[in-house]
Amino acid sequence: MNVSEVRKRYLDFFKARGHAVIPSAPVVPENDPTTLFTSSGMQPLVPYLMGQAHPEGTRLVDSQMSFRADDIEEVGDNRHTTFFEMLGNWSLGDYFKAEQLPWFFEFLTDGKSGLGLDPKNLYVTVFSGDKEAGMPADDESVGIWKELFAKEGINAAFVALDTEERGGELGMQGGRIFAYGAKKNWWSRAGTPSKMPSGEIGGPDSEVFYDFGVPHDPRFGRECHPNCDCGRFIEIGNSVFMQFIKKSDDSFGELPKRNVDFGGGLERLAAATHGDPDVFLIDVFDAARNVITERSGTGYGTDAATTRSFRIVLDHMRAASFMLASGITPANSEQGYVLRRLIRRSIREADKLGIKDTVLPEVAEGYGDAYADQYPFVKANHDFIRDELAKEEAQFRKTLANGMRELERQLEKYKQILGSYAFVLFTTYGFPLELTREIAEEHGITMSDQELDLYEGLMKKHREESRAGAAQKFAGGLADHQAETIRYHTAHHILLKALQMVLGPEVHQRGSNITSERLRIDFNYGTKLTDEQKREVERIVNEKIGEALPVTRTVMRKEDAEKLGAEHEFGATYPEQVSVYSVGPKDASDADPKFADAFSIEFCGGPHVANTAELGEGGKRFKIQKEEASSAGVRRIKAVLAAP
Ligand code: ALA
Repeated sequence: MNVSEVRKRYLDFFKARGHAVIPSAPVVPENDPTTLFTSSGMQPLVPYLMGQAHPEGTRLVDSQMSFRADDIEEVGDNRHTTFFEMLGNWSLGDYFKAEQLPWFFEFLTDGKSGLGLDPKNLYVTVFSGDKEAGMPADDESVGIWKELFAKEGINAAFVALDTEERGGELGMQGGRIFAYGAKKNWWSRAGTPSKMPSGEIGGPDSEVFYDFGVPHDPRFGRECHPNCDCGRFIEIGNSVFMQFIKKSDDSFGELPKRNVDFGGGLERLAAATHGDPDVFLIDVFDAARNVITERSGTGYGTDAATTRSFRIVLDHMRAASFMLASGITPANSEQGYVLRRLIRRSIREADKLGIKDTVLPEVAEGYGDAYADQYPFVKANHDFIRDELAKEEAQFRKTLANGMRELERQLEKYKQILGSYAFVLFTTYGFPLELTREIAEEHGITMSDQELDLYEGLMKKHREESRAGAAQKFAGGLADHQAETIRYHTAHHILLKALQMVLGPEVHQRGSNITSERLRIDFNYGTKLTDEQKREVERIVNEKIGEALPVTRTVMRKEDAEKLGAEHEFGATYPEQVSVYSVGPKDASDADPKFADAFSIEFCGGPHVANTAELGEGGKRFKIQKEEASSAGVRRIKAVLAAP
């Protein structure tokens, strides 16, 4: 089955079981200061898992665009990708284990409505409990799985492994259902129970693995077991029983309702239907793979190194296409930095494949077509993607050439490569160690072990520093800064309307990012704003804050919201029922939003303040800090709420 077919079957399967199909949230979250990318299906749904009512009901299904920056270095084997689609079905306090596990099993094994996989190739894992967190073993799931396999004539034996180490020692032991501890069978955005910050939600989970039947590779442990990384077993789905919340005293409380958060890798499921574990062989990569084949004159699968380079370019260019189409441009911080890394790594790998001239725009083009049905915004942004990639590729190829000259001068002069010099080449020119060594070898110069150790030491420190930054980003936003972020969120709505009043009604949002310290908006407009225009925009926003206008949330049909002229995001897809926030008029209320006289109306999930007066608390005033070009025809404003 191709990717579209697997996706469609999954959505239809759960639709037939009472689930509302909801569109994917953006892969670059709009107003979430806690994270750079959407990395799982549950992330955009956290407020609903925590108890807020979802406008579409208690059973939802979707395919969520996801990106995991942590996995950049893992890409190169047959199954890791940074960008992927996560199939998800949700019970928001509706069904639980007794429905979830049988449904997913039926979807996997039924040939008519599901994927028709052979149940003999399925192995499952469950949670063995966690003493420290006071969490019991999930015996209920063991019982459900036993019955499901029994119906297929499979006598499913239970084996407790608890840790990967024990798995590597003890192996399969004829088992079908395996219990592991919190490291493997507990899910939260932060990891195991002890790593969860206060306010974070999580729960035990049950994973399904597909046995691709490749022989065990003893480099990964003496014995094979479902969580062994040798490649025989690949995880294809995870049912999280999202039931707990971490409290401020480090103990766990029950969420108001028990939820199911299921996540399944679409690409891996498609690979399972082919019985081939290589996700890079599924249809969405075909066009891009052909471009690389043609340009390099070498084929995918020729040898291990070639295949690895192909995979990195294939993965990174797909991720880069989605990011660029979402309005991210290469930069030196945040999302733009991740995008830049993806592009630079791709150029290096293309270079290794013998491609010496601009190639990335051509590779990326294949993805617009591959996703034309499900994500038309990628193809719609084709020109922008092509231009940005071409620009970045040209620039980096120049940097590489400069670095190469530098390095050659160094080699001639000193006849050696110091670890500290290799490190500088990496940070300044993006030269990975392997490249530096390769070129040194060409000059007959070998880096000594001592210098290699010095280089590794510097890199380790460098990595720790960037990781610390990333960890802070996660922990920082969870609770403490929330009130401030919400104020900026509302200020953002008022600002957009003010910009339309001053610059013209054709101005719309092209991107946004909100933290607890400032807001940022990108909007279409051709020229730099004058000082008068900026002052007028500020005046209007402050006037609306001063008027103490109520902010109301209304759930309505998408068409009705469109008729009201509610502002919405360019290129985004919305569900049938949408949440709309309106600012003003003075006498509006939740019961009677009085849209006709509202100052601003926007499609928005919230949250927002109840009254614009909250933005001016403590004598704060709205102030534009910076107005600049973001890309061709798009301006960017950064603004703050600050006491004068
Ligand atoms: N939230 C779970 C995951 O990302 C399903 O694996």
